[in-house]
Amino acid sequence: MAILVTGGAGYIGSHVARALRRSGYEVLLYDDLSNGFRRLVRGFELVEGDVADEKKLLPILARVDAVMHFAAHAYVGESVDNPRKYFQNNVLGALSLLHSVLDSRVRRFVFSSTCAVYGIPGKTLIDEETPREPVNPYGASKLFLEYALDAYSRSYGLRSVILRYFNAAGADESGEIGELHNPETHLVPLALLATAAHFPALQVYGSDYPTPDGTCVRDYIHVSDLAEAHVLALQYLERGGDQKPGPSLAINLGTGRGHSVLEVIQAAESATGRPVRRTMGPRRPGDPPTLVADPAKAQRVLGWTAKRNLADIVSSAWTWKEKNQADSGVS
Ligand SMILES: NC(=O)c1ccc[n+]([C@@H]2O[C@H](COP(=O)([O-])OP(=O)(O)OC[C@H]3O[C@@H](n4cnc5c(N)ncnc54)[C@H](O)[C@@H]3O)[C@@H](O)[C@H]2O)c1
Repeated sequence: MAILVTGGAGYIGSHVARALRRSGYEVLLYDDLSNGFRRLVRGFELVEGDVADEKKLLPILARVDAVMHFAAHAYVGESVDNPRKYFQNNVLGALSLLHSVLDSRVRRFVFSSTCAVYGIPGKTLIDEETPREPVNPYGASKLFLEYALDAYSRSYGLRSVILRYFNAAGADESGEIGELHNPETHLVPLALLATAAHFPALQVYGSDYPTPDGTCVRDYIHVSDLAEAHVLALQYLERGGDQKPGPSLAINLGTGRGHSVLEVIQAAESATGRPVRRTMGPRRPGDPPTLVADPAKAQRVLGWTAKRNLADIVSSAWTWKEKNQADSGVS
C-alpha cells in the first residue's frame, strides 16, 4: 500500500513518513520546499511541487492508495498579518488537492487539523464536540477544509480522518530528524536555543494567567506519538470504518495533560543541565490560558494513547539539536 504525504519535507510530515515506512507502507513525499528541508527526507522519494499543481499531482495520485495532507502554512501570527497567504494555500491550494484526489481513484484521506479550530474554548478539557470557533485566519483556514472534507465524505465517499493536533514537539528517537521551522516559533526548540549564550533569551508571553504558575498551559504531544496516531488513522480507513457515505471522523491528538511554559522551561533545564535565559513579557492577544485535549475518542476509536511525556519530548528534542548543531536551521 502506497501513501502520498504532502508536506512530507516538513517537521510532522517527515516523522509520519518514517512511522509509515516502519509499519510497512510505501511512502511518496510531495513538498514545494517553501518551508521544508531536504535533510529531513533523506532516503525517501520526494517530488517537488505545489499541492495546487493538478497536472503534476494526477500521475502521482495514480501511484498511491491514500493521501496524508500536511502541506500548509502554519504560523498563527503570520496568518493575522497576511491572511491572504493562508487562505490561498490552506484553503484554495488544499481544495485544489482535494479535487485532484476526487479525479483519481484515491478515496482515503488523512488531514492535519489543529486545536486552533476551537479558538478560545470555554472549558479546559477539549473534546471533539467543543464548538469550533477559530479566532485567527490560520484556524479558520483549517476549519474550512474540515467542512469540505465532511461534505465530500458524505457526498462523494472520499473517506477522511481529521486529526486535530495540540502542540507537537520532540524529535524522532533515532536523532536523525527533528523539529525545524524557519523562523522557529515553537516553545520547546526556542527554550533549548535559549540555553546557549549566542541565541536570544526566551520571551514568555504573560505570567498573570489564571493558571497554577501564571503562565499559559498547553498540551504537548510527542511527534512520534502523533506519527503513530496517523498510522492508526490510516488503518481505521483501511478497515472501512464508516464504510457508508457519512461524516468524516474528527479526532483530537493530545495527551490530556497540560504543562505551563515554566514547566517546559524546567524540563529544558533538566535535559540540558543549563539555565534557560528568559524575559517575562505581556500576554499575547488571543492566547487562551489553558488548552488541553480530551483524548478519549482517540483511545476509543483508534486505540491510541500518547506514550511519551514532557521529559521524553524535551530530551529527544535536545538529542536532535545536539546532533545537528552544525547545520541547524538550514536545508
Ligand atoms: N507543529 C504543530 O504543532 C502543529 C499543530 C497543529 C497542526 N499542525 C499542522 O500540521 C501540518 C504540519 O505542520 P509542521 O509543523 O510540520 O509544518 P512545516 O511547515 O514543518 O511543514 C509543512 C510543509 O508543507 C510544505 N508546503 C507548504 N505549502 C505547500 C504547498 N502549497 N505545496 C506543497 N508543499 C507545501 C512546506 O514546505 C513544509 O515542508 C500543518 O498542516 C500544520 O497546520 C501543526
